[in-house]
Amino acid sequence: MNPTASHPRFAESSAEPDLVKRDEAALIDLLDQLVQKHGFIPREVSDEISRMVEVKLERLRRIQSKLDTTIRRDVQNHVARWRDEEGNLIMILHAIQNQHGYVPREVAMELARELGVKLARIYEVITFYHYFKLQPPGAHNITVCNGTACYLKGSTDLLNELRTQLGVAEGQTTADRQIHLDVVRCIGCCGMAPAMVVDGKTCGHAKPADIAGHIATVRAKKTEVKK
Ligand code: FES
Repeated sequence: MNPTASHPRFAESSAEPDLVKRDEAALIDLLDQLVQKHGFIPREVSDEISRMVEVKLERLRRIQSKLDTTIRRDVQNHVARWRDEEGNLIMILHAIQNQHGYVPREVAMELARELGVKLARIYEVITFYHYFKLQPPGAHNITVCNGTACYLKGSTDLLNELRTQLGVAEGQTTADRQIHLDVVRCIGCCGMAPAMVVDGKTCGHAKPADIAGHIATVRAKKTEVKK
């Protein structure tokens, strides 16, 4: 499954809070202007704003309830599938990650409820296994090897350059969900240290000066990410 095709609920990006902030800022600007012009906010304007907010809230409540039902149903299906298997929590988490590309917090909470275990227990397992992701994946991946050989040959410099240029830390995805940055321990190419993998292609003897080029190449392939 395309990991970027996660449920719209979990397709959060920092662009969404920005959009909300912009809406809020525009509304505050408008109210400021009205206060400057009239010295108060006319009743019809405040009534109209209240009406708009109510309509939006109602719409949000409806979407939220539909999504909650979907999450519950999906989690129940996963749990039913693995209920009697040994080590079923891991298998269920695999199924969830296959479905969404990562383990969304809302789903983890629903899983805890469904299994009757503490949420902390779920997160204990998720964070123990490097495989599980807590962030939505990017359309493209850049992975830096930080095994001993690569570390000794300067993988930290590569990582720092990537962090700076992408504006994310390892394990995170850029706000546009295009590039996910990861770190692994040894990819079996120690003779080419320091090594990194860009969208499945191994790049040996990598240098910080190459990073901008790799990012540009990946960005040129800009992939549409489902919202
Ligand atoms: S330590 Fe990096 S490839 Fe082995």
